[in-house]
Amino acid sequence: MFDGTGVSRRTRASRGALFAALYAAALTAQAQTAAAPSGFVGSNACKTCHADVWANFYKNPHYQAVAAGDRPPEQTGCESCHGPGQAHVAARGGKTTIGHAFSTMAPKETMEVCLTCHAKDLQKANIRRSEHTLNGVTCTNCHSIHRSPSAKFLLAKARSETCYACHAGVRAQFEMPSKHRVNEGFMDCWDCHNPHGTFTATWRMAARPPMVEQSAFNDEACVKCHEDRRGPFVYEHPPTVIEGCERCHYPHGSMNGRLLRRPVEFTLCLECHNGGGRGTRLAGVDLTTKDHNLLDPKYQRCTTCHVRIHGSNADGLFLR
Ligand code: HEC
Ligand code: HEC
Ligand code: HEC
Ligand code: HEC
Ligand code: HEC
Ligand code: HEC
Ligand code: HEC
Ligand code: HEC
Ligand code: HEC
Ligand code: HEC
Repeated sequence: MFDGTGVSRRTRASRGALFAALYAAALTAQAQTAAAPSGFVGSNACKTCHADVWANFYKNPHYQAVAAGDRPPEQTGCESCHGPGQAHVAARGGKTTIGHAFSTMAPKETMEVCLTCHAKDLQKANIRRSEHTLNGVTCTNCHSIHRSPSAKFLLAKARSETCYACHAGVRAQFEMPSKHRVNEGFMDCWDCHNPHGTFTATWRMAARPPMVEQSAFNDEACVKCHEDRRGPFVYEHPPTVIEGCERCHYPHGSMNGRLLRRPVEFTLCLECHNGGGRGTRLAGVDLTTKDHNLLDPKYQRCTTCHVRIHGSNADGLFLR
């Protein structure tokens, strides 16, 4: 609202802004002269020869330090990743004159450069022992600092295409009749996976799930969207909590309805409820009772009666 003092306030504000700009410029100049002895020349020195890289750099989250101008030169702009540029500028280019020319570096070396700043991110706590790192995949396989087509996370390709570059076989699974809609763009691989590696899971203890992310309370990622299956229930169905959702469901896609691992539901149940007592790590899983005549089609769709198949708060037989 206009209150009569707005004009002068605005003038004061713009005078303030002008002063701040001058002050910042002075600081930058100061920082640059102070930096020279250690071989840092500041990002402005790179502009002329690498105009293409510079042109988009203001949009990059790594531009923050340049804009703020409050961090030491080894943590600011181009040289925060590429190392001191003085020798490179003096030589007017060259791959051997600059500290970190990534095109000549091994995957591990690249990772260490990025981790000088990113090692503290909780999400990357397991990066060094992740399947990706152990197999020579590094940050720049999935991230592109200068040429990212993705709006977020500086990804190397648009969204999940980043992953399909190497996991092409997975694409077909997301085209099956029952599926999660990754290819349609409703969700991404990283809704369930942490490509940087994960903590030891609280389910499926013996077999470490392939970088499947955990949601709150260390549950499997699935329950962050399918909250109604989270429990804890008064009456748990052990496979849900112990072995994980993928004991009965394919996570990506399936030819069977409800992403189930078997086309006929009761055959899934009979994998464990077969009286053999060895279907799970818990010995002695109950047989279906003798009242259940499995030749009678009525009994073949178990979940018409055992409706709370994931667990129940009311009934130990999951009938309600
Ligand atoms: C966050 C780290 C980081 C920052 C900051 C950074 N770069 Fe890079 N730069 C890289 C990586 C990583 C590559 C390797 C290319 C790739 O795999 O994406 C690269 C590649 C390059 C290349 C090789 C050719 C090319 O375009 O890929 C040039 C030139 C370059 N950077 C210049 C610059 C300049 C100039 C700046 C500052 C405006 C800058 N870089 C800031 C990480 C960085
Ligand atoms: C006088 C021109 C000039 C200036 C100034 C300059 N460069 Fe370069 N730079 C080059 C040339 C030419 C190449 C190509 C070298 C080659 O391919 O052999 C290059 C290559 C690079 C590469 C690529 C190495 C690779 O992996 O292939 C990086 C990174 C780089 N410069 C960073 C910088 C940074 C950071 C600055 C500012 C501190 C800077 N350059 C300033 C001319 C310049
Ligand atoms: C000098 C410190 C520093 C280095 C080195 C560095 N980063 Fe960053 N990075 C940052 C900061 C600061 C941010 C912004 C964080 C924020 O916004 O919370 C960032 C953000 C990011 C983001 C998030 C982008 C987004 O849109 O959310 C990615 C991805 C990233 N960096 C990857 C890399 C990679 C890959 C390397 C190595 C080539 C690297 N960084 C090297 C400091 C660094
Ligand atoms: C296998 C692919 C892959 C590799 C390898 C990878 N990233 Fe990522 N990164 C992603 C994806 C996908 C996202 C976005 C989803 C997410 O946050 O998990 C992301 C997100 C990020 C973010 C922003 C989100 C956040 O929470 O901080 C940063 C920063 C980042 N990565 C840095 C790195 C660094 C540094 C490395 C190497 C040490 C690296 N990444 C290796 C795929 C990868
Ligand atoms: C709905 C959650 C979910 C989504 C989305 C998802 N995954 Fe998975 N993925 C899993 C689970 C759970 C497993 C473990 C399955 C098992 O061990 O039976 C897995 C296993 C894998 C495996 C190892 C087993 C195999 O099939 O080779 C790869 C590789 C993989 N996923 C890649 C991807 C890629 C790439 C994407 C995105 C295009 C993706 N995943 C999206 C949950 C998901
Ligand atoms: C540069 C190639 C490359 C890219 C890009 C890549 N991966 Fe991988 N991924 C691998 C390799 C290599 C392995 C280990 C060997 C294997 O299991 O195929 C692997 C393994 C995996 C596994 C199985 C881990 C296990 O324990 O068995 C999952 C899940 C996975 N990647 C998910 C992803 C996701 C999600 C993305 C995208 C964010 C992605 N990958 C991007 C190369 C890649
Ligand atoms: C990011 C949210 C999200 C995550 C994480 C997620 N789902 Fe889903 N899921 C959905 C949505 C949304 C649907 C509805 C179907 C669609 O998208 O077409 C669905 C559908 C399903 C269906 C029914 C499919 C059908 O054909 O009727 C099953 C079963 C399922 N998810 C199991 C899982 C399992 C198991 C996991 C973990 C491995 C998981 N979901 C992780 C969002 C998610
Ligand atoms: C013991 C086997 C089993 C386990 C373990 C299991 N499910 Fe299911 N799930 C089923 C069956 C059977 C159905 C089909 C029920 C029906 O058709 O009414 C189903 C259906 C679903 C549906 C679709 C429901 C609908 O109304 O369309 C979702 C979503 C789902 N499960 C998620 C999960 C999640 C998340 C987990 C792990 C927390 C999980 N399931 C673990 C057997 C299982
Ligand atoms: C991976 C093995 C496994 C699968 C598959 C499985 N169950 Fe179970 N189920 C168990 C275990 C273990 C128990 C707990 C038995 C106990 O406490 O004596 C259980 C308990 C039950 C109970 C409660 C009975 C009781 O005495 O506690 C019912 C009902 C049941 N399951 C029905 C089903 C149905 C219907 C399916 C198919 C949709 C199914 N189960 C699939 C392992 C499995
Ligand atoms: C028409 C409804 C109905 C169908 C269909 C049905 N059940 Fe049952 N189920 C029951 C009832 C009611 C009980 C408890 C009363 C009893 O013991 O007969 C029960 C009990 C059980 C028990 C516990 C037995 C015990 O000794 O405590 C198991 C395990 C079981 N069912 C599994 C299955 C499986 C597996 C299927 C599919 C092949 C199935 N049920 C189909 C109604 C059904």
